[in-house]
Amino acid sequence: MITASSSPNSAWIKYWGNRNDPLRIPMADSFSMSLDGPNVEIDIDHSPELIVHSFNPDGTEKILGEKHVARFGKTLDNVKTYLTKLGAPDAIPASCNITVRSNIPSAVGIASSSAVFSCLAKAIQGLIAETYELTETQTSVIGRIGSGSAGRSVHGGFVALVAGEGEEIDSAYGKQFADENHWTLHDIIVVPTMIEKKIGSTEGHPTAHSSPHYSDRVDAIMNRRQKECIDAVLAKDFEKLTYVCEEDVLDMHMVMQTSTPALHYLTNDTHRITDGIIELRTSEHLPVFYTMDAGPTVQLICTDESVDRVREFAYAQEGCKVFEAKTGAGAKIIKELATVA
Ligand code: DP6
Repeated sequence: MITASSSPNSAWIKYWGNRNDPLRIPMADSFSMSLDGPNVEIDIDHSPELIVHSFNPDGTEKILGEKHVARFGKTLDNVKTYLTKLGAPDAIPASCNITVRSNIPSAVGIASSSAVFSCLAKAIQGLIAETYELTETQTSVIGRIGSGSAGRSVHGGFVALVAGEGEEIDSAYGKQFADENHWTLHDIIVVPTMIEKKIGSTEGHPTAHSSPHYSDRVDAIMNRRQKECIDAVLAKDFEKLTYVCEEDVLDMHMVMQTSTPALHYLTNDTHRITDGIIELRTSEHLPVFYTMDAGPTVQLICTDESVDRVREFAYAQEGCKVFEAKTGAGAKIIKELATVA
């Protein structure tokens, strides 16, 4: 049995829309910082049939709906297809017994699927190690097969999901540009509501193409924005990073709002928080920027220098929950137990 651990990431150039939905092959590159928490642990072992158990942060079992179990099943089927392509068709002979222990509060507004499926990918890397040694890039492909953004969380630090070309299952993969020691940045997560969103990312991605602004979005990322973001991170240029990340998040939400059906994830609370942080950074010259995923939660990314002030701002937001994370190391194998035959 193998146990792996992983955490979500904070997406700065957002992944939105696929060129192949079932395989989660994205239309455009994306970029994120892996976080050091909250974490998910997964135990995995071979099993004649698929078994999935999931436990909440308080240790109680979370009863998984059919849709959730089916997602694990589909992911394993696609992983087996990929392993066959790699020349290891028998690396997972039948199925797996998977136990997920999540410390991520539900509906926190940061993609728990990025943590769960990057963790699963790392656990699979450990599980099949004797039959086939997956590289980190191949492990990121397995993460991406389960959840697009998980392709990034397999690696630590500052990571791109490279869209690549074509329809091959491994045409898109995670690529680390700098590890977690390069730059410590904080993510102060301000959650206005714990109510789960109606349309999740998986259902949202296919709508992207219906927005009249989508092809401009893809062009902007592929021709300019992704490179600007990577350059800003490598140069630790927080001002440049602020500009490109805020441009990208607003662009993604414009695409969402102009697609059919229109997806309105941002609320009055979101706008109140982003307006407030802009005011604060202008008046106090603070290095901080905001970003939002498919929900009203606002992530405030800041440096060591500004974190105390940003934290104070976050805790002053009425009716909001606050979570804190910083640059993290990506998915890790934490335990290997020989199975007694
Ligand atoms: C808005 O990776 O959650 O958070 O592949 O269907 O699991 P699935 O989608 P997911 O999409 C993430 C969308 C986003 C932006 C991002 O994380 O880049």
